[in-house]
Parts: sequence; structure tokens; C-alpha cells
Amino acid sequence: MAIRKVLLRDENEDFLRKVSKPVVEFDDNLVALINDMIDTLHKYDGLGLAAPQIGVLKRIAIVEVGDVYLELINPVITSKEGSIIRDEGCLSLPGLFKKVERPAKVSIRAFDRHGFEYEYTAEGLLARAICHEMDHLDGHLFVDFVVDDKKTKGDK
Ligand code: CO
Repeated sequence: MAIRKVLLRDENEDFLRKVSKPVVEFDDNLVALINDMIDTLHKYDGLGLAAPQIGVLKRIAIVEVGDVYLELINPVITSKEGSIIRDEGCLSLPGLFKKVERPAKVSIRAFDRHGFEYEYTAEGLLARAICHEMDHLDGHLFVDFVVDDKKTKGDK
């Protein structure tokens, strides 16, 4: 278990823009990597972390919102519903918070560290965190999806 350095957009944008590769081996290396991601997430007090943020271009992310912890390995979104506009931030862009529109509810299918495939439906902040972390796996950052301030005025 170790805390890894989180790559910053300002220093590593080219890397953070790459598309990550699917996980094929559910082995001890994967477990060690995820344990490091958990340590790193806790150290930085974030809601989620994607492997590319610690320099690994694999489709792995973790989210921890309240008492829900999820491992998202090779995740796919199977349905989305509604939309919520809310301030969002990222450990790779410290101190920056902008309004982003996300689904109010998402259903996903993913694998955990043991290679067990599961389905999960999340709402609100957890749904937002899942979408944010999954974006990292395709090289997208939340600043790509910022909605302009006028749009948020009528948003409840
Ligand atoms: Co992020």
C-alpha cells in the first residue's frame, strides 16, 4: 500500500488525455494498484480517482461517496436518467470548481478487483462521481463539460 503522486492537468495534460486500455488480468498487480489508489484517494480526501491520474492507462477507477465504495474496472454505463447541474472538481485540477451537467441517475456494469461483474444504479453525487471517473478513462476532464453560468440561473 502506498500513496501515489496524482498527475496534474497543468503538468501532464497530454497523458491525462489518453484513452485507457481495458483490464484483462485480474491478478495481484491489479489488487496492489487498487490498494494504492485507495490510499491515494484517502490522502487527498477525494470522492474518486481514476488509474490514469496516477500514471496508469488502464480502465480502473474507484469512487467513495459517503459509505458507498465502488471499484469500476472496465465500466460501462447501461442507462442514464435526468440531469443535475452542480459544481464539480478534480484532484488533477486542484482548487478549480465549475458547474457540470451530469445525469441524475446512472446504471453501470463493471468488474471489481476479483473479476466479479456487477451492476449498480447510483443517483446524485455518487452518479456524478461515477461519470467523472469514467470520463478520465477516455481522456476527458470535467472542464470539457462546463456549462455556462447563464444556464445555471434557472436550475434548482
Ligand atoms: Co477527476
